[in-house]
Amino acid sequence: MSKYFEKMKEKFEFLRNKEDIYILSIESSCDETSIAIVKNGREVLSNIIATQIEIHKRFGGVVPEVASRNHILAISNVYEEALEKAGIKAEELDAIAVTYGAGLIGALLVGVNFAKTLALSLNIPLIAVSHVHGHIASNYISHLDLKPPFVCLMVSGGHTAILKINNYCNFELIGSTVDDAVGECFDKVARVLGLEYPGGPNIDRLAKLGNNNIKFNYSCALKDSYNFSFSGLKTAVVNYVHNKEQKKEEISVEDIACSFQEIVTDELSEKAIKACKEFGLNKLVVAGGVGANSRLKEKLTTLCNENSIELYSPILRYCTDNAGMIASAAYYYMKANIGLSDLDLTAKPNVPFILNID
Ligand code: KG4
Ligand code: ZN
Repeated sequence: MSKYFEKMKEKFEFLRNKEDIYILSIESSCDETSIAIVKNGREVLSNIIATQIEIHKRFGGVVPEVASRNHILAISNVYEEALEKAGIKAEELDAIAVTYGAGLIGALLVGVNFAKTLALSLNIPLIAVSHVHGHIASNYISHLDLKPPFVCLMVSGGHTAILKINNYCNFELIGSTVDDAVGECFDKVARVLGLEYPGGPNIDRLAKLGNNNIKFNYSCALKDSYNFSFSGLKTAVVNYVHNKEQKKEEISVEDIACSFQEIVTDELSEKAIKACKEFGLNKLVVAGGVGANSRLKEKLTTLCNENSIELYSPILRYCTDNAGMIASAAYYYMKANIGLSDLDLTAKPNVPFILNID
């Protein structure tokens, strides 16, 4: 244990009872370099996002090595901008939070090392945050009055799950994907249709111009469970497209996008509502990039209205990766006395999903 860490244990304890807490957070798990400053876990003073989407477009997806190099190039400027926009001096910060996983190791390491340097030089605690917990917390910075308990539908590029959120740091897993994450499936289908990265928003846009008139050769095996499986559907769409190409038949990208999206959004929305009813919770909270999908939002809105369930989803810019959500999660970690890290913190490709602190 370092001397720094021994001192930080005391500071962390002190911060738990301090009235106003300013956390600077860093997110670099994939292709966005983001730094935010958030007051008391809810009030976003700045949330700067430097996206690399244009850089990765020509490769059809995120290239890990290219992502880490570009995080290195961007991070210092993003830091300066975050402080300037918040109107805060580094010395006024109470803690540094950082995404340490899940994500691309090389990309995460840039954020983790930057965070360690800041925490040590400012002599303030370092809080290691799980990226998925950040996605849940994106709702706390979007809806200032939102409090647990609720059911969370987690739909990102890396995760697909239904969670019962009992408290800020107490989650139960109700169901999850047994293979691909839903965002991954959107991106792969988009790729086979020749659409640019990231595929999800392009499928969403084109689906509006198409009809739900294609029956893919696929049957969902997990209908009666809260688990999901998307790899069979993805293969069915890929086979459909390849078949048509071999026969030199025309395909309608819009109809494929629409028919695919209908299946996925039915599955996600129906299971999420079923969980709310089974667990007697009248709040449903959506988290993760696929939460930006307009058809998913439409279906959830209708189903929630029919079942008297309040629906929350992050405001659009907090749906996808951003550091604001990481600071919010860190604030609640701190209140629950978890997440304090020493300077040997390292990046992890996978981190535990579930928390059970009361
Ligand atoms: O949560 P996120 O920003 O990153 C991860 O933590 O994975 O999610 C990114 C995923 C990508 O797969 C992207 O295609 C998808 O979210 N996405 C969408 C939409 N906007 C982003 N998927 C469907 N419809 C959208 N409108
Ligand atoms: Zn994410």
